[in-house]
Amino acid sequence: MEAKQLQEIQEKIAAAKAVAVLTGAGISADSGIPTFRGEDGLWRNFRAEDLATPEAFERDPRLVWEWYNWRRELIADKQPNAAHYALADLERRLEAFVLVTQNVDGLHAVAGSRKLIELHGNIWKVRCTQCEAVTENRDVPIVILPHCMRCHGLLRPHIVWFGEVLYAPDVLKSARAFEGCDLMLVIGTSGIVQPAASFVSLAKDHKAFVVEINVAETAASLEADALLLGRAADVVPQLLMADRS
Ligand code: OAD
Repeated sequence: MEAKQLQEIQEKIAAAKAVAVLTGAGISADSGIPTFRGEDGLWRNFRAEDLATPEAFERDPRLVWEWYNWRRELIADKQPNAAHYALADLERRLEAFVLVTQNVDGLHAVAGSRKLIELHGNIWKVRCTQCEAVTENRDVPIVILPHCMRCHGLLRPHIVWFGEVLYAPDVLKSARAFEGCDLMLVIGTSGIVQPAASFVSLAKDHKAFVVEINVAETAASLEADALLLGRAADVVPQLLMADRS
């Protein structure tokens, strides 16, 4: 990254009144959690339709839970990295800030982010298929099959699967944040999955300055005003070092 380019973007961030951030699997790749579509990505080795759809769960809830237990094990000992912490720090310095993540690993919250929307759910939460109650469950492994303490209904991961509708209030809040921001950061997402994929256009339509951080170009890169190529854990802290006081 050129120093001049970095400085220009840092000035924009320092002047921004409202910042909205979209993150994807790439930000947690630096914590050791595999992405979905990278070389060793989860969707290269597993078929999403066998594991992450309501039909798959109906067909074989054991198989789906076994896969989530494997992912729970994979994530359980992972820690937030410098990019997660830099975003939590930025939030504390701004009045108007929203962080929208597609990640289900919970690392943004561990790093201290509070104005956080977990658009695709959270792997450490379970939801009853009968009474819909959502509860936290950090068991690794979780007992298979898990049942609801209240009504004994079958529990499922509190994750939005392919073919399912996202929680509408979260989508609305996210859309408002991207419409209303003057600066958007897009970090470590391939920009393929909707509605997150449309948030860059939404921000651009409302005249926001969009900065993308990724190790490679993505579907969003053409629309972004600046693309910073590099690992999130290196680039994000460097970018957000600017003194806003
Ligand atoms: P993807 O796996 O589609 O994309 C990960 C992105 O991160 C790619 O653009 C990589 O180039 C980039 N990347 C990899 N390592 C990086 C690093 N160290 N620093 C910065 N960028 C890096 O993941 P998502 O875009 O998050 O949904 O995928 C979106 C959704 O698709 C996921 O939430 C998941 C998946 O199906 C559900 O499970 C519901």
